[in-house]
Order: sequence, then C-alpha cells, then structure tokens
Amino acid sequence: MNQPVMGGVATLNVPAYIKQQKLINWVAEIAALTKPDRIHWCDGSQEEYDRLCAEMVAAGTMKKLNQEKRPNSYLACSDPTDVARVEDRTYICSSTKEQAGPTNNWMDPAEMRATLNPLFDGCMVGRTMYVVPFSMGPLGSPIAHIGVELSDSPYVAVNMRIMTRMGKAVYDVLGTDGEFVPCVHTVGAPLTAGRKDVAWPCNPTKYIVHYPETREIWSFGSGYGGNALLGKKCFALRIASNMGHQDAQIDGKGWLAEHMLILGVESPQGKKHYIAAAFPSACGKTNFAMLIPPASFDGWKITTIGDDIAWIKPGADGRLYAINPEAGYFGVAPGTNEKTNFNCMASLRENTIFTNVALTDDGDVWWEGLSKQAPAHLIDWQGKDWTPASGTKAAHPNARFTVAATQNPVIDAAWDDPAGVPISAFIFGGRRSTTVPLVTEARNWTEGVYMAATMGSETTAAAAGQQGVVRRDPFAMLPFIGYNMSDYFQHWLNLGEKIGQANPAALPKVYCVNWFRTDEQGHFVWPGFGDNMRVLKWMLERIEGTAGGIENIFGTTPRFGDLKWDGIPFSPEEFETITSIDKDAWREELVLHEELFTKLAYHLPAELKAVKAELEKRLAK
Ligand code: GTP
Ligand code: SPV
Ligand code: MN
Repeated sequence: MNQPVMGGVATLNVPAYIKQQKLINWVAEIAALTKPDRIHWCDGSQEEYDRLCAEMVAAGTMKKLNQEKRPNSYLACSDPTDVARVEDRTYICSSTKEQAGPTNNWMDPAEMRATLNPLFDGCMVGRTMYVVPFSMGPLGSPIAHIGVELSDSPYVAVNMRIMTRMGKAVYDVLGTDGEFVPCVHTVGAPLTAGRKDVAWPCNPTKYIVHYPETREIWSFGSGYGGNALLGKKCFALRIASNMGHQDAQIDGKGWLAEHMLILGVESPQGKKHYIAAAFPSACGKTNFAMLIPPASFDGWKITTIGDDIAWIKPGADGRLYAINPEAGYFGVAPGTNEKTNFNCMASLRENTIFTNVALTDDGDVWWEGLSKQAPAHLIDWQGKDWTPASGTKAAHPNARFTVAATQNPVIDAAWDDPAGVPISAFIFGGRRSTTVPLVTEARNWTEGVYMAATMGSETTAAAAGQQGVVRRDPFAMLPFIGYNMSDYFQHWLNLGEKIGQANPAALPKVYCVNWFRTDEQGHFVWPGFGDNMRVLKWMLERIEGTAGGIENIFGTTPRFGDLKWDGIPFSPEEFETITSIDKDAWREELVLHEELFTKLAYHLPAELKAVKAELEKRLAK
C-alpha cells in the first residue's frame, strides 16, 4: 500500500489490514492539516480500551472507580463550559440555505470551509490522532453504514467503542472501495510551545458542522456527548436523515432516521409488537425502552431494541422495519434509580463510563435522584467537596453514562438482527405541564404526522441554553434534522401514502403522549415510569383491535375504564386532570402551531395546513 509522505509530522504507520487507499489518503490529508504528534489506528480490542483508559487515569481525565463496587468503570468530569450539545453552534452546510431550512443554522459550504480551515490547521499539535473506524448498525448489514472518526480525544475513542461497532472488522467491510462517512473531531486545544495539557481540553469556540452533499462531519472545540461522538447525532441523525430523504429519489420511498427508542411489548397471550417512540432529549426514552411493568401486569414483557435512534426502512412485505444503529447507551444519569429504571441500574453495575456525576468517598458514583438521601460527603462533578448543605447539584443535570447495550438485562433477542423489527406504532411525546393529554391515537397517518410536526416540549439540560421553556420540537428532531423541516414532513407523508396504498394494514398507528402534566402545586399527576405500561397495554390492544376509546377533537383517547388500574390508587378525577381538553388552552396552542407553520411556510405540505383548518373548525364548535 502506498504510504503518503507526511511533512514533518507523525508518520502514518498504516496497519497492513487496511486495504483502502482513499481512506489512507484522507487520514494523511487530515493529519497534514491538524498536525498531530502521533497517529493511533484503533483496533477496538479490550486491551486497547484498557490501555487508553489507564492513560486517561494517569492524565487526570478519568478516575477509576472502586473495583469491588463498580468493576471496570470510570468517572470522567468535563470542563464546566463543555457539558451538553451546543445547538447554536451546530450547522447544516448544504449548498443552499433552503435545503437546510429555517430550523437549522446554515453557512455556505465554501465559507464554512474557509472559516474552519485555520481552526483545524495545527489543532492536534502535541496530541495523538485516533483513527476510529465504526459501523452504525450490524457489521456488514445492508442497512448499516460505516464512518471513520479522526479525533484527538482518547475519551471519544473509548466511548465510540461502547456506542458503536468499532474496530478492525470495519476495515474488512470497507474493503478496497467501500463508502464511509468521514468525521473529523478535535477538542481544539493544541499543545503548542510546550503548553501543558489539562484534564478536559476544549475550546470556547465551537463548531459542529455537517456537509450533507459530501456527507462529511467536522467538529471543533467540544469533547462532550453528541458534539464529539460523531456516530450519534451528527451521523445517525443529521447525515442519515439526508441519506434517507435522498434515497427516496432512487427507490421512490427512501427511509427514516429518527430520534426514537424502539421497544418490544408482549402480552401474556404472546402477542408481540414493536413500537418506536420519539421524545425530545432527556424526556424519557431510555426509561421507556427498559420499562418494567407494574406487579399487577403479570406476564407482560418489555424488551429493548434501542434507546435513542432508529433507522426505519420499508421491507419487502410493505411494513416498516427498524434497527438501532447504535451498540450502546449514552443515557441521562440524574433521576435514574432502582425504582424509576431498575434495568438501567442493572446495566450500569460494571464496564461503564460515567461523565459528570459525583464521586462517593468509597469510590463509587452518585447523582441526584439515585437515592432519597444524599451521602453526607461527595466530590461533585467539578471536583469540589460537596455535602447536602452545599446547595448545588452534586452531578451535572446532563451527567451521563456510557454502557454497552448487551449489558441491558431486557435486551430484545432481535436487537442485533440486520433485518430489523416490524413497527406497529409510533409514539410522539413531549414534556408539557399543561394542555396535552396523557394519550391520543391519531385518526389517520396524516393527522399523526400533524401531531408529531406540531409537538411542543419544555427544554432540558441536554442542550446548552435556557431550560424549561416550551418550544416546538417537531418529531423530537428539531436539533437533529439534517435538511429542510417541511421537506422532512413531506417525506413522512409520502412514505405513509406509499405504504398505505399497497396495504393499509401495514401502516403503523400513531400516538401522542404526555407523561408530564402537573397539578396546581407543580407535581406530576401521572406516576409515569413503570406505570406507562398502562398506556402501552391500551395501545397494544388498540393495535389488536380489542380496546375501546372515545373520539375527541384530536383523535381517540381511552376512557377511565379503558385502562387497567390494578395496583395503583388513581381516581377518575385525577385521570380527568391529565386527559381533559381545555379548549381555550388549545386555541392558544393552535396559535403556536400557526407560528411554526409560518416559520416553515416554504414547502410546508398542504395536507398539514388542511388538518389544522379542520382542527380549528372542531375547536370552534
Ligand atoms: P436523550 O438521551 O437526551 O435523548 O434522552 P432520553 O429521552 O433517553 O432521556 P431519559 O430517558 O434519560 O430521561 C431522563 C429524564 O426523564 C429524567 O429526568 C427522568 O426522571 C425523566 N422521566 C423519564 N420517564 C419519565 C416518566 O414517565 N415520568 C416523569 N415524570 N419523568 C420521566
Ligand atoms: C440527546 O441530547 O438527545 C442525547 C445526548 O441523546 S447527546 O448524544 O449528547 O446528543
Ligand atoms: Mn437523544
């Protein structure tokens, strides 16, 4: 293999098993630009993972946790300015602004390249560049796609090993001319002029950039989560949503890349369905995907396919099939405990990387909500002494764990099946303290798309910026759609039409849910978590055609008697507070829909405007 000559920087030392010249040339080109001291080609082995973790422990980036209490696990604490996705620094650089649409930041690709080039020039000086080959989806599967991330962060390399199928085997699939999405990532902190490294290097200037036409990702300045683990939001959502949309021009249907968990629900009679659910960031996907039914739901089983992202394609039988492109969970720690998510806690017993949680005196982890009573003393996520009297959060609200999907005790037997699983229903849900009822079944696909498109949710700590304000988050994809939002709505409508024309029974049902309505004191009225099973059971029975409901302005909802209440004291009055439809509140809500539609006017599907007009008529009655 031809080894390009490097100008005074690291030697390439390409492993013999890499057979693709295009890949080697690209690595050489990026190394020449970023000028790392060393290049490390990740093989994905356990030995490599252990060694990188040990190096990060030595460098102060991670702490090894108590081997007895939390075997083979680590705690990383980030710079306090680098704790979440940066939506205002995220760009979709398509050739025209219209293609990115009004919900995305856009810059002309040439202008962006000119902006980024000086930033990336020499950005890895003094560091190692890790070459991280990964597959989104089962290796070699016809629906999987390959990426290669070049990163100067060893934290990224070890996290990518958990979150994706990462390592040597990817090169066998790539062969001499297989396609891959090139992903370049730097923390943006070169060690120039003998500058000393810090525990969590990053840069106040941040750019998370996507070029949909050339399917490239360039990320500068952050080492955290979706900003840095480029297989996740950047590839599996922003670039993949583009791919799925563009493929419709080839096969007439295309496919979907969605911010959705996928779960299996099985009744005691052995009826099993797969359901995909879109909730915005930190609104309960991981919890829902691993739900444990209440004790009174004897014989009901929930199993997990994925907790964050779904790639969904029409299958030969006309139904939609979904895979989880990821191999691990990068989940929210605060609020997770044995009661709210027992299966998640079981997943985290070992082999876990925790980020921005607190450290206990015996070398274990703690976060708000893990136990009712906080420990008397902790080291908080910023490395400071902490006691319950401190008045600050011990863990950052967006503290996360990284863990392999295979550690989930309720992983579905088909989670790794390259063919995917057939989807019987889609659920869309936001965090709304008012207005939106517990559950509504859309009357048809178009009204379902309308519900998803107009969904609102209170913002959370998953993204930098103000928290708790209601914003429209269509399909829970506002920060993740890689092209024009209205074209995306049209893509959903078109796909539904194609499926429905061939076989109406193949069309998944669509539901809108809200677990978050509060009472006058601001407390959640709905118990949520495992009790969400009560809603799931109703959905499964609706799919099977055995459950009742009542039609209202927006669709069909269960009456009190349509849900199973065994095991909780939940009164019809309480049910009323979370299912009632306040017409005045909905008139105000429709004003917000109108605002959204005005913003999305370019290419907004006429069908959605028609649904809105129909709803307004019903509300006026
Ligand atoms: P991302 O990984 O950011 O995409 O988010 P996610 O949707 O997977 O979030 P996750 O499941 O980790 O949700 C975390 C937050 O949702 C925590 O604050 C939980 O306490 C809360 N939560 C989850 N399920 C429920 C529920 O049924 N009811 C209530 N009230 N809160 C819930
Ligand atoms: C989200 O914010 O929706 C996440 C976490 O799943 S991150 O990978 O950081 O985007
Ligand atoms: Mn997410």
